[in-house]
Amino acid sequence: MQDKIVLEAKNLKKHYHRGSEIVKALDGVDLKIKGSEIISIVGPSGSGKTTLMNLIGCLDKVTAGSLKIGDNDVASLEEIDLIKIRRENIGFIFQRFYLIPTLTVRENVELPLIFAKKNINAKNILDLLKEVNLEDKEGIQVKHLSGGDKQRTGIARALVNDPKILVADEPTGKLEIKVGEQILELFKNLSEKGLAIVIATHNLELAQATQRIIHLQDGKVVPKEKSDLYY
Ligand SMILES: Nc1ncnc2c1ncn2[C@@H]1O[C@H](COP(=O)(O)OP(=O)(O)OP(=O)(O)O)[C@@H](O)[C@H]1O
Ligand SMILES: [Mg+2]
Repeated sequence: MQDKIVLEAKNLKKHYHRGSEIVKALDGVDLKIKGSEIISIVGPSGSGKTTLMNLIGCLDKVTAGSLKIGDNDVASLEEIDLIKIRRENIGFIFQRFYLIPTLTVRENVELPLIFAKKNINAKNILDLLKEVNLEDKEGIQVKHLSGGDKQRTGIARALVNDPKILVADEPTGKLEIKVGEQILELFKNLSEKGLAIVIATHNLELAQATQRIIHLQDGKVVPKEKSDLYY
């Protein structure tokens, strides 16, 4: 079950218009990800990492090519259907956390359920908070938390809808190295339970700790030898 392909991109393209110019942010990407796999996407600034994460996360429309999330071919879907696929399959983690500072840890984690009009099951929330080591901080306003605990809150919020794929754009970007390592450890535990995790990062140490590294350059996947990154 865990070896099941949860995501498959074929010749995936995303073009943006900048005035009269067309920016080929993704220019034909092939990618397969299995459940329980942790992979990282690395590449220079502007190589298309965030663009790829946004497509995987169904936050943006595909220009051309195919993209399968689970059994759904999302490339042809309109915004309203993408939202549904996103809610049922994807959890997001951002470098800037995007938490609501005046709400408590628990309230932030519950927000996606409120948006999805789902019931809030107190025990499930507590289990989730235990999983990310925040059970004793559930009542604290997020503005009083450390960076690491804010990111743990972000991770719990990303998991509350029970996604199949966790998409993390620079998840340890602003965190201290030790805290970043703890977050990676948490990712490993989550992936062992069947969650696929895709991390876009400039942090090569983080990337090397994942199972597979995808190198992007100018919107294309390139072999490590041909990438700008040497390690
Ligand atoms: N909304 C947009 N409109 C126009 N061009 C865009 C848009 N979003 C991204 N781009 C362009 O697409 C290319 C890829 O950008 P992207 O943000 O995916 O790169 P990145 O690898 O995430 O970079 P970084 O490491 O700086 O986060 C860049 O040339 C960028 O300028
Ligand atoms: Mg980016």
